[in-house]
Amino acid sequence: MMIPEILLNNGVAVPAVGFGTYKAPDDAEGREAVRRAIACGYRLIDTASLYANERAVGQAIAESGVGRDELVVTTKVANADRGYDSTLRAFDRSAQALGLDYVDLYLIHWPASAAVADDWQRINAETWRAMCRLLSEGRVRAIGVSNFGREHLDALARESDIVPAVNQIEFHPGWMQLDTLSRCREADIAVEGWSPLGRTRVLNDPLLVSIARAHGRSVAQICLRWAVQHGVIPLPKSLHAERMAQNINLFDFSLSPTEMAAIDAMPPTGQSGLTPDNVDFR
Ligand code: A2P
Repeated sequence: MMIPEILLNNGVAVPAVGFGTYKAPDDAEGREAVRRAIACGYRLIDTASLYANERAVGQAIAESGVGRDELVVTTKVANADRGYDSTLRAFDRSAQALGLDYVDLYLIHWPASAAVADDWQRINAETWRAMCRLLSEGRVRAIGVSNFGREHLDALARESDIVPAVNQIEFHPGWMQLDTLSRCREADIAVEGWSPLGRTRVLNDPLLVSIARAHGRSVAQICLRWAVQHGVIPLPKSLHAERMAQNINLFDFSLSPTEMAAIDAMPPTGQSGLTPDNVDFR
């Protein structure tokens, strides 16, 4: 299965759909899931130090038989490691656990926000300064953020000329975060979508079910195709080979403008409820 690519604002090419590893455990089962995902065609692999599975992900990459330069490996700095020095140290730990001498895409997992810290802008700016250093040292090929809303992106832009290459946000039918999406488009920040199936909470939605029937596709494929047509890079996760394959089989059909508009107009559905203001993993 050939997956088309999207060019990030710094020229790095990434696949239009990736594999999320949030559910993969740091053991033989997790390793096998990632190994299988690579075997069935995924080239963008998304982990985070918070997922505590970087070792298994790294082993799967090493065993995959796919060239390192064909893979786009993403990991993220956790909330507890925000700040300049601690981000640099966290990166070293992640790279070591992954067994990689460079990471393709390194993200700030969650922004510090006003509800969490009075000096949230300074904290994000310091974390970002460390990310920029990693980029200039060639230890990462691209840097970005995750779960940043407009206010966090605006604040960062006041502190740094280096625009994030990516913002990874919760994105699925019923939760498209339009304001953040348009802020990213204005600044040429590529958007990746986590929980593109709404962690299965949207899979029984009657509108999505009827569109899926009309195309002879699964509801999951409709959710993912909708993301792709919005230019968003979905990161579905599954531990099952058949679903992994289904979730990248998205490029031989398309949704009509009417279907896209109908999905866009869905009322809030299936969102996790996680926001920068209520997530503090320290
Ligand atoms: P499983 O690992 O058993 O396949 P999200 O990516 O939105 O967070 O959703 C992840 C959940 O969706 C997982 O529980 C996964 O379960 C399930 N899932 C992944 N792909 C599919 C699919 N094609 N059809 C149905 N459920 C899926």
